[in-house]
Amino acid sequence: VKRITVHTLRQMKDSGEKIAMLTAYDYSMARILDDAGIEVLLVGDSASNVMAGHETTLPITLDQMIYHASSVVRGIQKALVVVDLPFGTYQGNSKKALSSAIRIMKESGAHAVKIEGGQEIKESIKRILSAGVPVMGHLGLTPQSIYKFGTYTVRAKEVTEAERLKSDAILLEKLGCFALVLEKIPADLAAEVTASVGIPVIGIGAGDQVDGQVLVTHDMLGITKDFKPRFLRRYVDLFESIHHAAGSYRKDVKSGDFPNENEQY
Ligand code: KIV
Ligand code: NA
Repeated sequence: VKRITVHTLRQMKDSGEKIAMLTAYDYSMARILDDAGIEVLLVGDSASNVMAGHETTLPITLDQMIYHASSVVRGIQKALVVVDLPFGTYQGNSKKALSSAIRIMKESGAHAVKIEGGQEIKESIKRILSAGVPVMGHLGLTPQSIYKFGTYTVRAKEVTEAERLKSDAILLEKLGCFALVLEKIPADLAAEVTASVGIPVIGIGAGDQVDGQVLVTHDMLGITKDFKPRFLRRYVDLFESIHHAAGSYRKDVKSGDFPNENEQY
């Protein structure tokens, strides 16, 4: 099998082939998504929400991200595995950023890291890139800054924030980031950013004029029952399917129907 690399993604942008990215946090799911041909698996710090049940992405630790990432890496044959640097492991101190990125690469076997922000984390990005670790940027609604924003609503609707986002995107490309995630911003702005940079732009709630899409897997599978933002498309209602399966199993255990004659030794 031919592995997806950061160069493959660039070629996909250049040839107009859209990039499909999903989150993964464990071995079994990574196997399925990789086999389905998803080009990029993101070990997102959304694991803090969907795996650990925290309200925000802030509490998840570097050790926990490495555990998730190494599980995902064992499940893939082809996909590019990108890992979020969690909150507090890269901001404000580029040496710390580098050592965090190196721990992820060494201990999990992943292929790249993602970090939230632009100008303010420039030194961290430079230092990680100088060690040969590919960096994916992330602008717009950056969930690690939720307490600054105060809400998970659409970002960059005002000119000042939109202008800043545009210059940050150009900066990220200039620094050497291989791709960029744009989260929850107006489609027109995302289209403008996508046309202004040579690197692939992956959107989530950023419209259709970008180079690829990413969703949180548990959201698109319908496992996160009450999360229904406008940008989300649900491809299956796994909450219902699993709920039903568990109910049937329970019923069969109580009635003595399970296990039957053929299901024992
Ligand atoms: O952590 C995550 O799942 C993400 C994606 C939503 C881009 O950063
Ligand atoms: Na994230």
